[in-house]
This record gives sequence, structure tokens and C-alpha cells, in this order.
Amino acid sequence: MTLTQEQQDILGGSKGETMAKVMQTLVLYGDAFGAEKMVPVTSTKGHLVTSFGLKVMKPVYNLMDQLIEGGAFSKQKFSVDPKPIDPNVPANFLEKLVFNKFMYSMQDSYDSQLAKLGLIDSDSYTCTCYMDEVGNIPKKGDYLSWAESSAVVYANSVLGARCNRNSGIIELFGSIAGFVPYFGLLTDEGRKATWIIEVKTTKKPEAQILGSAIGMKVMEDVPYIKGMGEWLGTELTDDVKAYLKDFGAATASNGAVGLYHIDGLTPEAKELGESLVAEGAKVYVIDDDELQRVQDNYPIMWKDINASPKLCFVGCPHLSMAQLKEWTDNVTEALKKNGRTKVSVPTVFTAAPAVCEEFNKTPYAKKLKDAGVILSYICPLMYMNNPLCKKKAVITNSNKLRTYTTSRYYRSDEILDIITKEVK
Ligand code: F3S
Repeated sequence: MTLTQEQQDILGGSKGETMAKVMQTLVLYGDAFGAEKMVPVTSTKGHLVTSFGLKVMKPVYNLMDQLIEGGAFSKQKFSVDPKPIDPNVPANFLEKLVFNKFMYSMQDSYDSQLAKLGLIDSDSYTCTCYMDEVGNIPKKGDYLSWAESSAVVYANSVLGARCNRNSGIIELFGSIAGFVPYFGLLTDEGRKATWIIEVKTTKKPEAQILGSAIGMKVMEDVPYIKGMGEWLGTELTDDVKAYLKDFGAATASNGAVGLYHIDGLTPEAKELGESLVAEGAKVYVIDDDELQRVQDNYPIMWKDINASPKLCFVGCPHLSMAQLKEWTDNVTEALKKNGRTKVSVPTVFTAAPAVCEEFNKTPYAKKLKDAGVILSYICPLMYMNNPLCKKKAVITNSNKLRTYTTSRYYRSDEILDIITKEVK
């Protein structure tokens, strides 16, 4: 890899031993992927994936201490993924004990390490840092050092920024050094599509299932998606951005997609059209039957597949303001239609702290509370990442949560139906 004089000096220790080690790690990482050079991180803010103070992550805490002692702070302020616990989210005595005393006992000290290293503020815990209310919104063409898969795919595809699917810690090192290795999705070549997806459905596809189907088919490749104009139009409105957020998270978790192009809609597809498609690209046609086949094949991980749902999570990735309002209206109307006043399954909607704060200033907040729905800043995956929750019958409309936990997937319309009717 060719390094600039400044990068060579850092590697040689001009900014101290700790910074030299950070740089060396990034160089080794780049070498492993055949990077030819390092480029400056140009976004104004970073984003970290590791937000949870799991007791078993001792090496991470030691590393953080070494960075702080060595003065290797992040060059850019950063946001971080959501917290794992929130006292408002239902948990029984045993679960609370396990969360607080055993699993996440390092949360407070890890939070203070993050604050020292460059966390924007104590409200910056969300995977949707690119929401207007949060304000960590990279520009088109920016080079980023992020790792959260749902945020990386959104930044690349919807915002036109450039970021690889880095790992946790590596992304922190990029933000500390201010450089990232130049390979993969940072390059024009790496952003070319090797799959053409032809969507031929008779109705707007559920974002989470369409993303799942594409992710499982193309894995880490870049898809160029056609046939969505009828359903999404040509403008990135708030509704379309929310759809793409959920769609992208499913492509990234059910496969390993870091970038997709949507014909006539996403920034690079608008600018470059089908010249983004690489020669010899494969074709995948998706119709109603294919989406049904994909949904029907999700394994049900519950011990008792006939169990009544005990908890419902909506908001993985975190909901946008428009989604929160829409869900509030939908729940209220469905409850009224079904002659009920409160949801029948304990239900948690999750969103960024800044989005929750703004939402709580609107009349929707009371409507949602009256319907019995809990609003939280939690990461549902972190909440479920323990043996106790594995036994719980949790339902969700998130394909990412389904993939990584024992929760059971239902489409949004099915979820609405379940939580607003009498539980059998
Ligand atoms: Fe966000 Fe946690 Fe889901 S980080 S995407 S809410 S798994």
C-alpha cells in the first residue's frame, strides 16, 4: 500500500506509540483487502457499532483505556448504536437481574469511555444516526468509517456516501486516525452492480421481505433494482427513505449487502443509470410468489410454535418520526375497529432518543401511550441476546431481529392485526 508522508510519519510514531498502533492496524486491514492507499475520512461525524457494556468484553475495555491513556481520541465526534437496556421495556425480576448484574454490568463504565473518546452526547445512541432529528447525515461522496450494517447500507445507497462494511473497533480506529483503506465500496469499480433485480409484483412489496429476498440471493454483491418506480416514485421523500432504511437493513442482515442501487431513485442510479451495471451481471426476478416463498421459508424458532406472543418489537432499525406517527394512527384505528382500548400484546416501538423526544412533543405521544404501547430507545436485539429471552415468544416485523434472535417474523399488517385483537 502506498502511504503519504503524513501517514508514514504517524506509522513511524510521530503522534505517539498508541496512534502508530492504530495506523498499523488500519494498514494491515487494508493490505488484507488489497487496498492501494489510505484516504482521509471526510464525513463530519463518525458512528460506532459497539454500544453495549457486556461483562465478557474485557479486551475491548482494556483497549479503550489504552487509547484514552495514549491520547488517541477520535478526530471526529461520533454517534453509537442503541443501548441494550431501558427500564421502561417489560422484563421480569430474573431478566432484570441478569441484564443489570451479569450481562451489561459494564454499561456505565463503557459509556464513560465512549464519552472520553468522542461520543457526541449522551443522547447519541441509535442505529439511525442519519435521521434529521439526530443529525449525523453524511454527504454524497463522503468517505466514512462506520460499521453498523444497517447504517452503512443506508449511507452508501440512499445518501451516496462511501463506506465499507467494516467491523467494530476498526471503524473506531478509522475515526481516530482520520484515514480509511481505499478498497471495495469506496471505489467506483466496487460500487458497480453485479446483479440486476427485476421486481414484478402486483402490489408494493413489503420492504423487509423484498430486502430479505435480495440479500439472501446476492449476499455481499451490489444489486441494481428495477421495477420499483411504480411503488416508490423518483424522489427520496421521508416515506421512501423510511422504506429504504428497512429494506436495506434486511439486505444487509439476511445477506451482506453494503450498497444497492434503485433505478431512477437512489443518487448514483439517478446520475449514472444502468452504466452502474457490470458486464455479465446475473438476473433475479421477484414476483408475488417469490416473496411469499421467502416469507414461508423463515424458520420458527419458538419452543412452542402455537404459543401466544408475549412481547412485540417494532423498530429495528429504529423508526423514523413519520413511521412512529403512522404506526400510532394505525394502532389507534385498529383498536377502535376491534372494540379495544389497549394493545393485547406488550408492545415496544423503538426510535432514536432525539426522535422520541420530538415525538413526545406531539399529540401522537398521548395516543400511543393510551393504546398501551411503550416507546423506547433500546436495541431489541441486545435486549433479546440472552438465554432467558430465547424462551420468550417475541414477534417482530424486523427481518434483522428475526435473523439474529428467536423472534418470529410477521409483516407489518399481520403485526397490527395480532396486537390489536384478543390474544388466543
Ligand atoms: Fe438497530 Fe439494534 Fe436493529 S442496532 S438495526 S435496533 S439490531
